[in-house]
Amino acid sequence: MTHYQFLEPLTFKNGLILKNRIVMSPMTTMTSFYNGMVTSDEIHYYQTRAAGPGLVITGVANVSASGKGFEGELSVASDDMIPGLTQLAQAIHQNGTKAILQIFHAGRKTNQQILRGTQPVSASAIAASYPADSETPRALSVEEIQSIIADFAAATQRAITAGFDGVELHGANTYLLQQFFSENSNQRTDAWGGSFEKRLHFPLAVINAVHQAIENATSRPFALGYRISPEEIETPGIRLADSLAFVDQIKTKVDYIHLSMGSYQRTSLNDQTNNQTLLSQFAAHTKGVVPLIGIGAVTTPTDAQAVLADGAELVALGRELLREPQWVQKVTAGDLGAIRTQMSPLDMDELAIPSVMQTYLRTSFYQVMNFTDDSTNQVNYQNTLAPMEGFEKKL
Ligand SMILES: Cc1cc2nc3c(=O)[nH]c(=O)nc-3n(C[C@H](O)[C@H](O)[C@H](O)COP(=O)(O)O)c2cc1C
Repeated sequence: MTHYQFLEPLTFKNGLILKNRIVMSPMTTMTSFYNGMVTSDEIHYYQTRAAGPGLVITGVANVSASGKGFEGELSVASDDMIPGLTQLAQAIHQNGTKAILQIFHAGRKTNQQILRGTQPVSASAIAASYPADSETPRALSVEEIQSIIADFAAATQRAITAGFDGVELHGANTYLLQQFFSENSNQRTDAWGGSFEKRLHFPLAVINAVHQAIENATSRPFALGYRISPEEIETPGIRLADSLAFVDQIKTKVDYIHLSMGSYQRTSLNDQTNNQTLLSQFAAHTKGVVPLIGIGAVTTPTDAQAVLADGAELVALGRELLREPQWVQKVTAGDLGAIRTQMSPLDMDELAIPSVMQTYLRTSFYQVMNFTDDSTNQVNYQNTLAPMEGFEKKL
């Protein structure tokens, strides 16, 4: 039988051991209760997909009420959430699979309807350029910035209490961490904006606060990951060189770095003369320092091997694990012919995909799901932004 490197274990520098290098990427189910509490449909969805991957990263959870980005999103903003999150961590902890809670503040990527009448907040009072009807946020005061940083730390403490093995800071897909780093959304003139260093201030302060929370709350290995989107396409906006410099700043402070891309073969969206994969360019900065999670349209073991060969230490699968929850088990058994790479809309109940998520996949994400009833509209994400990277269609 073929030997796959991605089936080998990996140990993070903090001592956390993953039984293999396959990661389930964070995918919101849109199925939490109105206040962000975990539902039994979600538990069932994660139970169905755990056991195979070395690591499952949950869909994103907001750390503050003002940071809710969409309906049905998980929350870790109050202690009430801990019992449900404990069940979620337990559901993932099957057969040695580790569980990481992804946490964020949506910043300007939300609206007053979702925030029940409250204006969205961000680094500066600048609306996102997409969607066209994006609301203009209110610029955060320094006290409010400090309070959101404390919310990230409190969320981490709750994740520890709930039994997770780590948190991932969602610094990608144009949410608040990215909004502070990007000149597009951060035009502050105080200590939290302006130069490259000042735009780094918020992400670094969040990383430090989360570290402190981990140190105070537990002695077991608890990972801190950071997800980034390599580029923005707006001007001004984040360019590849900015992201590589950002990675250089954080790579010794986190346990892994996770790229957000719709194709592992993606090259620069802004610089057509740069023909190297983004993955290999990030790997050149992370190799030997911190594990890198590569991602994007991985469906076959050959794809997963290619991601490692291009420099990543871990491979994340998103949509493929929706279609094929037993991916790792089938690869391990050598039963490659049984791996589904397409999904019938009629199979989604059987695949434990919650009804709201089914609607979401059938609408906003229809063209990228490889549904069997869609033979014409497949989008190749090689040279475009990924699902959820800031340009998804509104429901
Ligand atoms: C239904 C759905 C929900 C998603 N939700 C999140 C999320 O909560 N957090 C996040 O960082 N990325 C999210 N993503 C992006 C995925 O993690 C991943 O980056 C993307 O799907 C590309 O990987 P893939 O080609 O393996 O699917 C979502 C993607 C999908 C399809």
